[in-house]
Order: sequence, then C-alpha cells, then structure tokens
Amino acid sequence: MNIILLGPPGAGKGTQADMLTEHYGMAKLSTGDMLRAEVASGSAIGSKLQAIMSRGELVPDDIMIDMIRARIQKPDCGNGFTLDGFPRTEGQAAALDEMLAKEKKSLDFVIELAVDDKILVDRISGRFSCAKCGAGYHDHFKPTKASGICDACGSAEFSRRADDNAETVAKRLKAYHAQTAPLLPYYKKKGLLVSVDGMAPMEDVTASIRKIIMSQPSRI
Ligand code: AP5
Repeated sequence: MNIILLGPPGAGKGTQADMLTEHYGMAKLSTGDMLRAEVASGSAIGSKLQAIMSRGELVPDDIMIDMIRARIQKPDCGNGFTLDGFPRTEGQAAALDEMLAKEKKSLDFVIELAVDDKILVDRISGRFSCAKCGAGYHDHFKPTKASGICDACGSAEFSRRADDNAETVAKRLKAYHAQTAPLLPYYKKKGLLVSVDGMAPMEDVTASIRKIIMSQPSRI
C-alpha cells in the first residue's frame, strides 16, 4: 500500500506517517527529514539547502525528484510507503507518476489533512523532538510522559527546528497555498483524494485514516 499525506506545514503529516509505519509496517519517506539529514551532514549542498529551508521556500524540483527516486528503489519500500512532504509541486507529482509507472507501483490513497491556517502556528511553535532518537512531541498536544525525558529512548536532550518560527511558518504556508494546494484537484481527478479533518485530536485523525484504509481492504 502506497500513500501520500498532503497538507500544510504542521497539519500532522509526520505524526500520521509514524502511525502508518507502526500499524502497517510502511516505510516513511519524509523529504523534510531527508533534507535535514543532508544539512546535518555538513555537506556543501547541505548548506545551500539550509538557506532555502530557512527562507521557507521550496527546494528545486530536480533535487527533490532525484532524492525520492533513489529512496523509492530501496528494499523497505517493497512493503509499501508513506510519502510525507512529497510531492509539493505539479512537477514533482508528474515525476512521481512516471517513476511509479517505471517501478510498476501505484498510489492507493492520497490523504489530505485539512487544517485551518490559524491553528498551524500554535502547532508548529509547540513542536519539539528528541535530539537522540528523533521522537516527536508537542508542548501541549503531546508532551513527554515524564517531564524532560524522551518516552522512546530516555534521553533528556531535545531540539526545535530552525524553520519553526512565526515568520518562516508564514512563508511556508504561502508556498503551500501557491505551489502544493493545486495538487488537491490533481489527485481528485485521479479518484485518489480523500480528505480528513486534521483539526481533530491526533487519535481521531489516526482513526479516520485507518477507517479509510479498511474501507479498501484489497489495497492493504
Ligand atoms: P517538512 O519537514 O516537510 O515540513 P512541513 O511540510 O512544513 O511540515 P511539518 O513537518 O512542519 O509538519 P507536519 O505536517 O509533518 O506536522 P507534524 O506531524 O510534525 O519541510 C521542511 C522544508 O523542507 C520545507 O519548508 C521546504 O523548504 C523543504 N522541503 C521538504 N520537502 C520538499 C519538497 N518535496 N519540495 C521542495 N521542498 C521541500 O505536527 C506538527 C505538530 O503538531 C507536532 O508537534 C505534533 O505533535 C502536533 N500535532 C500533530 N497532529 C495534531 C493534532 N491532530 N492535534 C494537535 N496537535 C497535533
């Protein structure tokens, strides 16, 4: 089963992609995580990427397409994958169609997490993650069980993303509406788009996604 999660910054794509990995063993293909790993590696391309991301702009299509093309061919994608953060432009969507056809793969669902812009800034400004294992949290919506200790690995070190500030979030939202939202009608036309209320509590969003998947058991 291959799924795209579509939605604005902070809509919950990463959170729900983790759920799909946990429940269905699907590989999580997060382009944001891949780009941040490249930045953290200290490579020359990493510093160019960091500049683009800190401006809240999209990285050029050719870089993103090459990144996903290489990732989709890895063996763990044979169990199915969730795309979190890709495609983000019509060019990326067309390239994805081509690469899936070449790999004799197809998309099963494109799930939109619909969230109003006004609540996204709160969501993003409260987000933090474990600096050791990467587990994600939120100051109010998903705190650690024991204060200051990661539930997953016990580390006491946490970090916040450099692009999670109000000014950059506003630019990321603008980029979403101008460049990514046109993908909603693109996938609707293909009969793949399903929309869920991304403003519901996390567990309810998860339940809605699982219901959509269970309604088409042949695709699992
Ligand atoms: P990326 O890392 O993909 O960021 P994004 O799309 O802006 O999405 P986020 O990771 O901010 O949010 P999310 O939807 O995953 O929400 P999350 O689950 O964390 O991209 C970063 C940058 O990289 C881009 O700006 C761009 O420069 C570049 N880039 C990446 N891909 C690219 C591409 N394909 N092309 C070009 N450039 C690209 O949730 C957010 C918070 O809310 C968390 O704290 C979570 O705990 C909480 N939360 C989640 N769900 C709920 C809920 N239902 N209720 C309450 N709280 C919730």
